[in-house]
Amino acid sequence: METVRDDAGVYARVERFFDETFSTDNPLITEAVKRMLAAGGKRLRPRMTLLAASACGDDADEHLYLAAYMELIHVATLIHDDVVDNASTRRGVNATAIDYGNRVSVLAGDYLFAWIFKNVTANYDAPIPHILSATLADICDGEVLQLRSLGVLDLPVETYVDVARKKTASLFAASAECGAIAAGGSPDQVEALREYGDLYGIAFQMKDDLLDVTADAAAIGKPVGNDLHERKMTIPLILALGTGDAALRARVETYYDGRGGDADVAAIVADIARVGALDLTRGRIADYAARAKAALAPMGASGAKTELERLADALAAD
Ligand code: IPE
Ligand code: IPE
Ligand code: MG
Ligand code: MG
Repeated sequence: METVRDDAGVYARVERFFDETFSTDNPLITEAVKRMLAAGGKRLRPRMTLLAASACGDDADEHLYLAAYMELIHVATLIHDDVVDNASTRRGVNATAIDYGNRVSVLAGDYLFAWIFKNVTANYDAPIPHILSATLADICDGEVLQLRSLGVLDLPVETYVDVARKKTASLFAASAECGAIAAGGSPDQVEALREYGDLYGIAFQMKDDLLDVTADAAAIGKPVGNDLHERKMTIPLILALGTGDAALRARVETYYDGRGGDADVAAIVADIARVGALDLTRGRIADYAARAKAALAPMGASGAKTELERLADALAAD
């Protein structure tokens, strides 16, 4: 039976898994991971797994552990990502590297990945372990491709989408796909949900980039302006440069060449808004969100499908 009826109860049980069941053989690593779980987060990847399973007609309750592994993969990537991005806060608390240092952060993330795969390979049949391994390879690939794109002012939008697809959308796609597979969905349903996760994930990364130049740090629990500081080519910046505005380009060249100062970050953010790139970004997000919803066409009507549509709409709403 399809269920989203006991939503709160289901999600509370995912949290209980983290609180009561999650523990590794290494107390330091367990503590570092539990601290990041306790700090919050939106829990979007486990949500997608449970909704995908429900949309395929299964009881979400049967897939709580699979959903929880998706969040743990995400947490491990965040621990590593904050080392790579030199970010100081995450989920409103110190990034792992601030409290434990880069060396423990790298090893804790590695340990967590290994711990997850030990459990997933022991408990789930093919192709789920294979999908998750391929996802992890994609995430690393995306992060490395992003590093190689730092400061490349003429980065094509297609390359940006490739990075976003690999570093971020791959885990959303896998979360939805594995939920569908575990629930015994038909090949069409599995493909539809994977496609939804992929398109949702691209829109999600674009929204995350937008928030880096529009949100305040307290609201998102992580630094703002950090993408510019790290010389990332985010979608608002790529679209802003694409307008051909000479003043903006000169400012970005100066800052990304290391010749600017902190005041330039505020000026570039203002320029991005001035040339209309915030709205251009919102347009791209809305396009991908609409495509994500359209991908769900093969799914029959259900409460879970409606909720997946609502999640996509929420990205496009500002
Ligand atoms: C942050 O993901 C990393 C990105 C892929 C942009 P979330 O915004 O889902 O982070 P939490 O889980 O809510 O902290
Ligand atoms: C994150 O991308 C992708 C991951 C693999 C975690 P970002 O670097 O934009 O994520 P935030 O902004 O640090 O959360
Ligand atoms: Mg980051
Ligand atoms: Mg970001």
